[in-house]
Amino acid sequence: MQAFMQAMSFRHACKKFDPARTIPADEFQQILEFAHLSPSSFGMEHWRFVVVQTPALRAKLREVCWNQPQITDSSHVVVILAKVAEVEPGSEYVQRLFERRGLPEAAKQAYLAKYAAHYDAEIRPYMNTFAWSSKQCYIALANMMTGAASLGIDSCPIEGMSKEGVETLLEIDTQRYGVAVAVAFGYRAGEQTPRLRQALDDLVEYR
Ligand SMILES: Cc1cc2nc3c(=O)[nH]c(=O)nc-3n(C[C@H](O)[C@H](O)[C@H](O)COP(=O)(O)O)c2cc1C
Repeated sequence: MQAFMQAMSFRHACKKFDPARTIPADEFQQILEFAHLSPSSFGMEHWRFVVVQTPALRAKLREVCWNQPQITDSSHVVVILAKVAEVEPGSEYVQRLFERRGLPEAAKQAYLAKYAAHYDAEIRPYMNTFAWSSKQCYIALANMMTGAASLGIDSCPIEGMSKEGVETLLEIDTQRYGVAVAVAFGYRAGEQTPRLRQALDDLVEYR
């Protein structure tokens, strides 16, 4: 099987982690690098990654994540934060991220105008900034999970949480960030449940 398909097939939402196994530091670093290399709209890198390792903090995190055992039994837990204020048009952050492209001033101004126009026409009417940033965070999430699978590491995405509870626990400045999603990484304990999928033909249409 091709390597990518192998990783896709290996990955599943791991419900039961082996608490005795720890991901080697260099492999966890690679998982972070998969997130780092992920694409984002306008290259705004709408994310921040909080790795929650302290056992006491993990235990508290579990309480605000539907008491899911993956939070305490996995090797590593990452809470992905979505940027809010920084990615709004006119911010110093947006300016800085366009500036790093080294474009002539006119081209930079054109990008900034395009960004603001896109935000006004396609983001603001349909969703708030947190929702837009969260979409980008899920791209990083997917790459981390598939990338981890390519290393033989299991994962479980975690949306089952109190957003407010996690933000309070981690003392997040909610003007700047919102909690998008969390993800646990580690090694499966025993057999996993079978994968359930509808027929691909029922989900695809050609026009
Ligand atoms: C964004 C997202 C959030 C999820 N949240 C949870 C969760 O909180 N707890 C859990 O056990 N599974 C969670 N899942 C796992 C899904 O239930 C699972 O991906 C789906 O049933 C398909 O199974 P598979 O991933 O094993 O192929 C989540 C999945 C996604 C994509």
